[in-house]
Formats: sequence, C-alpha cells, structure tokens
Amino acid sequence: MRINGTTQSSVASHLAESIAGAMTIRAFGLEDRFFLKNLDLIDRNASPYFHNFSASEWFILRLEILCAIVLSSTTLAMALLQVGSSSSGIIGMEMSYGLSLNIFLVVSLQLQCLLANLIVSVERLEQYMHIPSEAPEIIESNRPEPNWPAVGKVEIHNVKVRYRPNAPLVLHGICCTIEGGYKIGIVGRTGSGKTTLISALFRLVEATEGEILVDGLNISTIGLHDLRSHFAIIPQDPTLFVGSVRYNLDPLLEHTDQEIWEVLEKCQLRAVIQEKEDGLNSVGKLIEYDEPLKLMSREGSLFGQLVREYWSRTSNSSN
Ligand SMILES: Nc1ncnc2c1ncn2[C@@H]1O[C@H](COP(=O)(O)OP(=O)(O)OP(=O)(O)O)[C@@H](O)[C@H]1O
Ligand SMILES: [Mg+2]
Repeated sequence: MRINGTTQSSVASHLAESIAGAMTIRAFGLEDRFFLKNLDLIDRNASPYFHNFSASEWFILRLEILCAIVLSSTTLAMALLQVGSSSSGIIGMEMSYGLSLNIFLVVSLQLQCLLANLIVSVERLEQYMHIPSEAPEIIESNRPEPNWPAVGKVEIHNVKVRYRPNAPLVLHGICCTIEGGYKIGIVGRTGSGKTTLISALFRLVEATEGEILVDGLNISTIGLHDLRSHFAIIPQDPTLFVGSVRYNLDPLLEHTDQEIWEVLEKCQLRAVIQEKEDGLNSVGKLIEYDEPLKLMSREGSLFGQLVREYWSRTSNSSN
C-alpha cells in the first residue's frame, strides 16, 4: 500500500501533465517517448501488486503443505493406535474438521495480512491529524475596515518565503512598493517565484521573514478570511463549478440579480444567458461559445484580425 501510494501519484501526475501539454508534445514529435514513459510508470505501479500476489500465493502453498502433513500424520497415528471400539467414527470426524481447518487457517492469515496493508490508511489519517492548521479565519481584535484596501498600495519589506521549514528559500528578501492604482507586471523565468509572491500576498504560504503592508496594514496581523475576502485574483486557467450560472458567479450569495446581470453585460454574455429558459438559474453543459473558424470569418472580429496579422508576419519572415 505504501509503495503503491507513491508510485500511483507519479502515474497520475505524468498523465495529467501529458494531457495538458499534448500540443507541445505533438509539436516536438515526442509522443513515443511520453507513451513509453507512461507504460514504464504503470509497470512500476503494478509491480508491487504482482509481488504482493506472488508472495501471498507462495505463502498459501506452504501453509497448505504444512496442513496436509499435520492432517495426514495425525490420521495415520490415529489409524495405527487403535483407541477403543468407536475409533472409526472419531477418525472420520477428525478428518472432516481437519480439512476445514486448512481453509480457516489460510483465510484468517490472509485477512490478517490485508488488515496490516489497509492500516496504512489509518496511519496516514493520523499523520494528517497532526498537520498544523492555518492561522485563524478572523481575529476579532484586529479587523480591517470594510472598504480596506481603499487605495491599494502594497509595500513589501524584505519578504523571505520557504515552502517547508528546512527547504531552501524561494523568495530571498523582496523589497518593493507598489503605489495604489498602478498596473504592474512581474517578469521572471519559470520557477523564479512569481506565483509564490502572489501566494504570499494571500498568505497561502506564510512569509518566513519580512512583512507585507497593504494600505499600511500588515497582512499577517489580520484573520485569513478578512484578508482573502478583500482581494480578488483572476487565475490563468478558467474553472467552472458544477451548478447554475448564478452559483458560478456568486457562490456566497452576496450580490443581487441586478449586479450579476450588469457583470454579464460587461462581459458581453448577457444575450447568451438571457436566451436560456431559466436565465441565471440555468444549469447547462459546457459548450464552446464560438468556433474559431466562425470567429475568423466574422466581420470585425478581433480574433480574426489577430490570426491574419500572425499569418502575415510569419509569411513575411519566411520570405
Ligand atoms: N508547493 C510547493 N512546494 C515546494 N516548492 C514549491 C511549491 N511551489 C513552488 N515551489 C518551488 O518554488 C520555486 C518558485 O516557484 P513558482 O511556482 O513561484 O515559480 P513561477 O515564477 O511562478 O514559475 P512559472 O513561471 O513556471 O509559473 C520553484 O523552485 C518551485 O520548485
Ligand atoms: Mg507560476
């Protein structure tokens, strides 16, 4: 179980990464390499099962041989040592009990092995029970103003972040000030810590040293709920939850229908949702809003312009 747990995660992550990067893999023509690696990982995952199965079969065989020796020797002994007139009946009963004893022994030992394997899950639960929890959701004595952050000035003072107590530092003392209302971009090679900086802002990972002030308020002194509910993040990958349009836009039921329609209007999705029978409460399956080919042929479509510009540039550079 323990080995299976570690090898299974590598199969799953390799599969997920291959699906996500399928286009890149095809572009470099490395389908075979990824396919072989996948087979290799599956083999590695299956080999503990195979060994477990072989060991248990080996064990059962030995146990049955042992039982057969014990049974036959006791039967022989009883047949040779004549004990009274009813000996034949007793020998018959002993033999029938002896045969089923064999099965009981095998089943009970197999169950014991299974229990020893499955108890690993309880052990893991016990480990999870001792994971230190996050900081409190709300600190009553130090709650921010409802309109915080009004300006949006972010001051980062010598922030150092590491993911685990003995892991190396990911952010080595960042110092900067972002004035309110500015749009800034963070640039860096992959693994340089851009996502970590955003995580530190939301305290998904706590800063080991240093402090972050938003509008003059140290974010490490307020509750997590207060902090995270006042900031918004637009992730790189869109995520849709199973549920109605309303649930996806306002899961905590904090906004009126009017506000949601306004947002949909700004995203040019009002007409599409209005067409549906249940409006905001409609639960539909996910469909592509528009096909790329249709978008390209549409008059004034930005997507079409982008594609045409891309093709004109690539044909110019190849000439
Ligand atoms: N959950 C984690 N546990 C341990 N180390 C992590 C974790 N997430 C990221 N790291 C490490 O922290 C470093 C910075 O990673 P981060 O994801 O912040 O980089 P990034 O700049 O966002 O990269 P990318 O451009 O690929 O998104 C990397 O070396 C990475 O291995
Ligand atoms: Mg990142």
